[in-house]
Amino acid sequence: MDARTSYGGARTASTPSTVLVTGGAGFIGSHACVDLLDHGYEVIVVDDYSNSTPQVLTRVERIAGRFVGAVYELDIRDRRALSAVFDRHSVDAVVHFAAHKAVGESTRMPVQYYDTNVGGTTSLLSVMHEHRVHQLVFSSSCAVYGDTGGGPLAETTPARPTNPYATSKWLCEQILADVCRYWPQFAVLCLRYFNPAGAHPSGLLGEDPGGVPDNLMPYVAQVAVGRRERLRVFGGDYPTPDGTAIRDYLHVMDTVEAHRVALDHLADAPGMRVFNLGTGTGSSVLDVVTAFGSACGRAIPYEIVGRRPGDVAELVADASAVARAWGWRPTRDLAAMCRDAWHFQQLNPRGYAGSARRPSGEE
Ligand code: UD1
Repeated sequence: MDARTSYGGARTASTPSTVLVTGGAGFIGSHACVDLLDHGYEVIVVDDYSNSTPQVLTRVERIAGRFVGAVYELDIRDRRALSAVFDRHSVDAVVHFAAHKAVGESTRMPVQYYDTNVGGTTSLLSVMHEHRVHQLVFSSSCAVYGDTGGGPLAETTPARPTNPYATSKWLCEQILADVCRYWPQFAVLCLRYFNPAGAHPSGLLGEDPGGVPDNLMPYVAQVAVGRRERLRVFGGDYPTPDGTAIRDYLHVMDTVEAHRVALDHLADAPGMRVFNLGTGTGSSVLDVVTAFGSACGRAIPYEIVGRRPGDVAELVADASAVARAWGWRPTRDLAAMCRDAWHFQQLNPRGYAGSARRPSGEE
């Protein structure tokens, strides 16, 4: 179980700390690990691999040229196991990604969504508190805004979640607000992401959901590579210019950079703060289809079918608050997201399946 040392990392005396990443083998978590390692943080990962594989972390280390400090396969609802991780490592801050995240699935398995997303968060909070770790960056979602009828959404927009996934994130935010109110040692940053997409530019890391992808970009990528025949566009009768739903897609590399910036700002103030992460630019499903077609050099076949339960017409961020607070702005556009997602899909036509296993020494 000993933490391994880095080989050739860029950690300096001024970089702060050891960060525990829950869900570190997942789509956003794995990219966050690379970014944190690249910036000198010591990284500890916990993941139950329910929607990921250990091989991802081997790739994280290959890209970063450093080892992840330790990796634990556990469900964060297992307080004893989680507590043992905090006993072993001097954790300074936690970035909490571990959760179920598919809207459609959440309408079929609501109890499991609340159990994992809310129960996982309360378990983590109690273990953190016991170990006097009070700095947390929480992975929230624009889904909390629900059906707002369009227009850029600022953090002050009232929450009206429309599906169990969204409600689970909203409940977590309310729990975190109470925790900060009654345990003032806590500093929490809730980052409400709009739609993270794309992949690491190396092509080694990307989005590889198990089974049939729920989310748009990985589905389109699998159509492009020939794994699926055509995209089903959910709804062509939304009140939008082309009738398909509009989202604010945010490059996963921009998303994880914002988490690192958030870590740097956690200590600025106690209590809970909430920030949107988005570009402020909306793209329809058909805009994504066209952009991906340009990236891969062939038209993406699609058919328009009925709306998906729980979906809303338009979600676009007013992302000005985070820019004002920290000077952080995303720098990558939809073309870059499609280019990088396509690069990953081309190099990994069957996702991570078949890639080399993590070497021994894995925790
Ligand atoms: C949802 C959440 C978002 C969260 C994301 C995590 C809402 C409103 N948004 O995003 O906060 O970050 O899950 O995964 O709850 N689509 C198709 N065909 C497909 C797949 C998707 O047409 O096969 C359409 C959807 O109807 C939607 C758009 O593409 O209009 C994006 O869908 P998706 O990628 O699943 O993300 P959201 O549901 O917007």
